Parts: sequence; structure tokens; C-alpha cells
Amino acid sequence: MNNLKRIIGFSLREIIDIFFWFKVPQGNFKKDGVATVKNFLDKELCDELKNIADKIFEDKSNLSPDSWINEREKETEGKIDTKVKAIFSFEKNSEVLEQFINSNLLQETFEKELGYELVLRNCCLQYDEPDTFTKRSFHTDNNPPPSFKAFIYLTDVDDLINGPFTVIKGTHKKARYLRIKNVIYNLRNNLPTTNMDNFVPEIEETAFCGKKGDLIMSTQTLFHRGNPQHAEKTRYVLIFYFSLKKHGPYPEFNLGKTS
Ligand SMILES: [Fe+2]
Repeated sequence: MNNLKRIIGFSLREIIDIFFWFKVPQGNFKKDGVATVKNFLDKELCDELKNIADKIFEDKSNLSPDSWINEREKETEGKIDTKVKAIFSFEKNSEVLEQFINSNLLQETFEKELGYELVLRNCCLQYDEPDTFTKRSFHTDNNPPPSFKAFIYLTDVDDLINGPFTVIKGTHKKARYLRIKNVIYNLRNNLPTTNMDNFVPEIEETAFCGKKGDLIMSTQTLFHRGNPQHAEKTRYVLIFYFSLKKHGPYPEFNLGKTS
């Protein structure tokens, strides 16, 4: 019974989400759920931020007290994304990054694509070592209502073996039925409702390779994954977590704080 109620809730939110996307301006972001901008962040700043992260991982005493580290290996008991570490509230470790965020350039760029106001919840630096065994398969970060992420590569991601962000374009709007089908399967099998790997559309995935400084804006209701062919080179990427302003105010952001 409880599951039935949840399934009805998920289905209703899918219907509301149809209307949400009507209002998004025409363009790639509306159609694909992803848009990119080349050379968004200065390459020297990318190098500087990578160095700051390296120093923190080398010696944790370099970490700002307002910032925290999450290691996926500990959190998932060695099962999923075991080569991923993240420094949340990373801007507390770099004045220049804080200034970049305060300039609002990124948020304004994203809001222009989306046609809705956003709230920045957090900026993290993610460090992904090569991993071809434990990457989480297709998933959403959440099911509707959508949340959004902006990714800025701090290292070149030239090929599939460097672990590009990978999505099935258009699934934010076109895969509602499959999303619900996955949710039902997950509820029955006591799995996270965001796993989307049991029923996947027959559309080829798209890998977003790019150079350091390139920006990718994405809606996280898309079916997506870190590329499982990531066999070479550690990827450093800034990830900005955005939520819709109209659904706020939001509680304090504490993802990954407990580990
Ligand atoms: Fe994700």
C-alpha cells in the first residue's frame, strides 16, 4: 500500500514536470537536458584549483574548517564509485573561486538557459581516479521535480578513457514511462529509487569530453553516469549543485558530511 502511494506520487510529479519544461526557452538545454560552453573558466585558475585540491588531499590540515571531504569508498562500503572523493564547499579554500561564484556569471548563464531562477546549494571539487569496475550505472540524481548541476572540468577529458560525464540525451522529458518503470522495480527490490539501469531507452549515450575550463550544464533528471571506460588519468571537476528558487528556502546543504 505504501509503495502504491509512492508510485502515485512519483507519477503525479512526472505530470507536473511536463508543465515545468513547457516554460523553458527553446534550445539545446530544453531539448537534450544538457548544454555546454567552451572555455568558461580561465585555464590558469583551473590549474590553481587543482593544486589546492592536491595539497588538501596530501595533508588534511590544509582543509578549511568550513569545508568537508567525502570519500565514496567509505560511504558505500567499497561498492560504488570507490575511486571518487569530493571536497564540498570547496570555495572556502580559494578566495578566487569565491569571487567567481559571487560574480554570479555561472548562475546567470544557467538561468538564461533554463528560464527559471536558481539557488546555488554547494560547490564541490570532485576527484575521480580511473575506475572501470565500480562506477554507478545509469541513474538520476533525483526524480522530478528536477535539480541541476554545472560541471567545470579542471583537467582535460579528451576521451572515454578519461571518464567524461555521460548522459542519454532527452531522457528528462522522453523517458517518463521508463523512469516510473525503474522506480517500481526499485521499490519492489528495495533499491534506491534513482537507479535507472534496469530499463534503459534504446538511445545511444552521449559522452561529454572537453578541455579544462569547459562548462557543462545539466538537469539531473536525465539518465546519466560517469563513463565506465575510465581507465586513464584522474579527472578533477568542479560540480555546482543548483536547485529551483521557487521550491526554496532549502535546509543547510550537508551531502557527504557524515562520512
Ligand atoms: Fe549523478
